[in-house]
Amino acid sequence: MFLTITYVSDSLIEPASCAAAVEQIVAEARPCNATLGVTGALLFAGNRFAQTIEGPEAVVDALMARIERDPRHLVRAVVKRHRIDERCFQAWSMAYSGDSVFVSQAVARALSGTLPSSSADVRRLLQMMRAFTVQVPQRRAGRGAT
Ligand SMILES: Cc1cc2nc3c(=O)[nH]c(=O)nc-3n(C[C@H](O)[C@H](O)[C@H](O)COP(=O)(O)O)c2cc1C
Repeated sequence: MFLTITYVSDSLIEPASCAAAVEQIVAEARPCNATLGVTGALLFAGNRFAQTIEGPEAVVDALMARIERDPRHLVRAVVKRHRIDERCFQAWSMAYSGDSVFVSQAVARALSGTLPSSSADVRRLLQMMRAFTVQVPQRRAGRGAT
């Protein structure tokens, strides 16, 4: 049994240094998550992040508490938090980074759901994360992918 958390946050990173800053987040997170047994995916869409983390319950809650304290973003909403039998993301991946109206709107819509855990918008966001991660070449099971 694992816990999965999906949240949406506003980026507080200077637009000019976004690319390097997101690369830095990914470079920090990848080895840390591998050590913790956490998998998931991170989407970065211009001025917002959406991230899913999944793994042992206590570990995921503790990591989420650290992520929430991170001054590089402001967590706007945890749109999904529940127990799962199997992981959705086998390797922690940076699912998408860049400017896309399509991705930005999907992230924004997930924020506006009134019943987050069952909303179609959150489901669409997760589908998008999964779609992006299957396009990403997997290097090695349990490790990140680029
Ligand atoms: C959008 C975003 C996503 C992050 N995702 C992760 C992650 O998946 N794993 C991780 O270890 N750190 C992640 N971090 C970094 C953590 O917030 C934090 O800086 C790191 O865990 C070190 O925490 P500490 O300084 O309290 O030890 C993320 C940061 C941001 C801004």
